[in-house]
Amino acid sequence: MGRSHRAKIGKSKLGEVIERSKKVLGIPSDYILGIVPASDTGAIEMAMWSMLGPRGVDVLSWESFGSGWATDCKNQLKLKDLRLFKADYGCLPDLGQVDWTHDVVFTWNGTTSGVRVPNGDWIAPNREGLSLCDATSAVFAMEIPWDRLDVVTWSWQKVLGGEAAHGMLALSPRAVKRLQEYSPERPLPKIFQMTKGRDLIAGIFEGETINTPSMLCVEDALDGLRWAETIGGLPALIARSKANLKAIEDWVAKSQWAGFLAADHAIRSSTSICLKIVDPAYRALSADDQAKHAKAIGSMLEKEGAAYDVGAYRDAPPGLRVWGGATVETSDIQLLLPWFDWAYGEVKKAF
Ligand SMILES: Cc1ncc(COP(=O)(O)O)c(C=O)c1O
Repeated sequence: MGRSHRAKIGKSKLGEVIERSKKVLGIPSDYILGIVPASDTGAIEMAMWSMLGPRGVDVLSWESFGSGWATDCKNQLKLKDLRLFKADYGCLPDLGQVDWTHDVVFTWNGTTSGVRVPNGDWIAPNREGLSLCDATSAVFAMEIPWDRLDVVTWSWQKVLGGEAAHGMLALSPRAVKRLQEYSPERPLPKIFQMTKGRDLIAGIFEGETINTPSMLCVEDALDGLRWAETIGGLPALIARSKANLKAIEDWVAKSQWAGFLAADHAIRSSTSICLKIVDPAYRALSADDQAKHAKAIGSMLEKEGAAYDVGAYRDAPPGLRVWGGATVETSDIQLLLPWFDWAYGEVKKAF
């Protein structure tokens, strides 16, 4: 780890992250995959900054991260021919409204609402625009129809539980063509630049990172990928995440007080599993009191050492959120659920 990332050995490790990721995820052989600065945010923003502009853009959002990309398109990129489709926490916007002559930006899994797109059937196979997908809390835990996606981004710290560092950026041949044929007017910082003149900087997609990566994080990313291979690859990862959701679904089915933010099973995330409190006594409380009591559940569980960071995301409706990604043991989730019942019972005494 003390060696330079530009040394042969360092470069080969970075190349190995790319090759193993492609293999585990089943990325088509004509797609390229790069390691880019600034985690998933860096990856999706460099794609948006580099590619958007030559045609209309539709942005779909249904929670805070997707809303962030919509804000980027409106206020930062100031795109002229822009349509924003928003839905509330727990729902998806109408996917049928998308115009596939436009470029389309969306998240596969809205991490803060626990709502995912159900599949890729709504994405036109013969689209004229590009589909740009932030899939950070979906890849390695959900089926991704690669042929329907032109730009796919993720980070190391989500489903494979690695150390946070650089982002991953997968590009279809049509996305590469866009980079080669379109130069935006806007200034691009060095960490967003994927072309030199009209030429793709191919090294980025072979392990020559734009700036210095942490080789410790690179080793950890490799460790996660090797683990994924040993447990049976993508099908096993997906099965583990699904089992985590199932454990919570079984509990919710019997619960008097907990429900899913995503009411529809088809769009319910198996990684960021978001719960709301449906008990009528709780729903009768003021919004402030609801927020206070939901927060108290998280604090009590943390104090007991039973669960950490299970509170809903700060912009989401009050509730609980459980990470159900592939690294999580279903048995741990099963152990957690009685703690939820206990904490809610304690909190309810204070209503
Ligand atoms: C859907 C989604 N997009 C983007 C991000 C930001 O990712 P990063 O911190 O890797 O840049 C997150 C983080 O949780 C996310 O869930």
